[in-house]
Amino acid sequence: MTSGKSSELTRAQAKPRMGTLIEKLHHHDFRYYVLDEPEISDSQYDTLFRELQSLEKQFPDLLRADSPTVRVSGKALDSFQKLRHGRPMLSLANALNESEFLEFDARAHRFLDLPETRAISYFVELKFDGLSINLTYRDGDLFSAATRGDGEIGEDVTQNVKTIRSIPLKLQGKNPPALVEIRGEVILPIASFEKLNEDQAKKGLKLFANPRNAAAGSLRQLDSAVTANRPLTGFFYGMGAVEGASFKAMSEFQDTLEKWGFRVGKWRRVCQGAQEVLEFYREIEAIRDTLPFEIDGVVVKLNSLTEIDQAGFVARSPRGMLAFKYPPRQESTQIEDIIVQVGRTGSLTPVAIVTPVRLGGATVRRATLHNQDEIDRKDIRIGDRVLIQRAGDVIPEVVQVITDARTGKEKKFKLPDHCPVCGSKVERKEGEAAVRCVSRNCVAQLKEAIRHFVMKDALNIEGMGERIVEQLVDEGRVKGFADIFSLKSSDFQSLEGFAEKSSVKMAEAIDRARSPELYRLIFALGIRHVGEQTAKLLANHFGSLEPILSSTEDELTQIHEIGPEMAKSIHHYFADKANRATLNAVLKFLEPQSPKRGSGKGVLAGKTLVLTGTFPTLSRSDATRLIEEQGGKVSSSVSKKTDFVVAGEEAGSKLDKARELGVEVLDEAGLKKLLS
Ligand code: IVH
Repeated sequence: MTSGKSSELTRAQAKPRMGTLIEKLHHHDFRYYVLDEPEISDSQYDTLFRELQSLEKQFPDLLRADSPTVRVSGKALDSFQKLRHGRPMLSLANALNESEFLEFDARAHRFLDLPETRAISYFVELKFDGLSINLTYRDGDLFSAATRGDGEIGEDVTQNVKTIRSIPLKLQGKNPPALVEIRGEVILPIASFEKLNEDQAKKGLKLFANPRNAAAGSLRQLDSAVTANRPLTGFFYGMGAVEGASFKAMSEFQDTLEKWGFRVGKWRRVCQGAQEVLEFYREIEAIRDTLPFEIDGVVVKLNSLTEIDQAGFVARSPRGMLAFKYPPRQESTQIEDIIVQVGRTGSLTPVAIVTPVRLGGATVRRATLHNQDEIDRKDIRIGDRVLIQRAGDVIPEVVQVITDARTGKEKKFKLPDHCPVCGSKVERKEGEAAVRCVSRNCVAQLKEAIRHFVMKDALNIEGMGERIVEQLVDEGRVKGFADIFSLKSSDFQSLEGFAEKSSVKMAEAIDRARSPELYRLIFALGIRHVGEQTAKLLANHFGSLEPILSSTEDELTQIHEIGPEMAKSIHHYFADKANRATLNAVLKFLEPQSPKRGSGKGVLAGKTLVLTGTFPTLSRSDATRLIEEQGGKVSSSVSKKTDFVVAGEEAGSKLDKARELGVEVLDEAGLKKLLS
């Protein structure tokens, strides 16, 4: 550890140390949130952050406005103040297809007075689908942040914007301009949007219709602590009022933005002439679905800033810029019917069967309605004309009803109170939006569970798709996970679409799955809330299956990234007799492979440590991470094999046991010494 202990510093020593810490933290925020290339671990970051926090507490008068700790503090507001932009925030004219873009190019030739044969130098970049924001920096410090509002006056969201870690509190580099307004778009990445909606659904709260609405809802929170919990980020592209700097070209300006520490889209290009713009537009359209955030087009700008000025405005849009849009991924269609699907965990999901419609490059026939609460909230009825949308590769969903199109013949829908597949009564737990079939013999659940069990990221039984699983279950050959492993090639020959060769291949694929990596087996079991990442975490943390089976909720929550709900679900799963029987049956055929330990690297390679009590500065999970980063293993119980017990305040029986067995005991400082 390089950090000194704050309690030992005098005021005179604290000031430069705080300066260094602020600089370091800004640097690491930039590496992590802007470049996506962190140089230090989260726990190392936390250590620096806490040291700064504690110095600020000790010397409150030394607190600096650009301290990264301001990102997490701040009182809830009663309302937003109004803020006038230094220069108005305008809008863009649109082109909805290639010929409309070509018309823009022809117009540009006219107003720049250029012959048609001369290629115009355009700057082209993504049109981010978020919420526009205006950041004001004075002498390099973030001074205020405002939403667009009516273009002249917006809402002051400074406190909330400060929680967005990819937005610099201070411009990087020397000689910042006296004043500069930076414009960009605050967005919520698609994955974060989905996660947020999952959380909202679990809490029985309203779902957001799309990432843009979610970003807007997250930024416009009176309590900045709520915003801080939403993984917002932003892309920056433009400029408002400026004093003390000037730029000739858009490309030069954006390069400067990057140097100042902003996140600027890497998909930007100077194009010579309309054809190059069209190429860029098509290239981006081809990768649109793979981007982790939503875009709704590209923005074409004259690269010369003088020319943009010269071109002037038409109806509050700069004449030298254009939003060149992609076809929307929202479409209207009609709900022909609503069916109910039973998932792997028994949840009943209402699904709309819609009149087929092209959307985002695919034909959509079904759209999820999530749950009864969502149907009621949006008042969705069979026969309704609705707006459907897809974001990324998410399952399409019904956004809203076009109520003007109602004829009066639409029919309301209610989820059944019995499972549509096995007929058992369904249950709805308090605080959950989902209705579940709780029968253990539900064929629909079994099919879903088996499909999940054999899928690519789980046991990866190649070629065992949905149709095959369906037939195996329907014909009674597979009643549980273990049955898969006693299937022989002859079992497949009678199935639809199988010949001798393909049957042999299928049996071989099953054989290849008999020694899976441990995490794959854990993931394959389909424990609620346990995705692939969590499964990896469990496998790496515990090293083998046995300790996972006997872990307590407490032990599980101590693992970084495992929350109480997940811990409960994991513990319940393994405590359940039927689940244990299923697992034991599977283990007769499978030999899970334990993760390879720490590759022998790190100062704690091969060492086992036990943590007990609370530590002065480190949290349990931080300590665990630091130890694991150095190749060590953290175990929950003390034995003769334990190398060190790290004891904090209120250490309990583990400390007694260590003394009894003669295991070396360290305090936090001792651990830090060991780690360094
Ligand atoms: S330049 C005069 N560049 O699109 C406004 N805008 O439809 C100049 N937007 O209000 C804006 N990505 O919020 C520009 N790369 C980009 C953009 C972008 C998204 C938003 C912006 C603007 C809206 C206009």
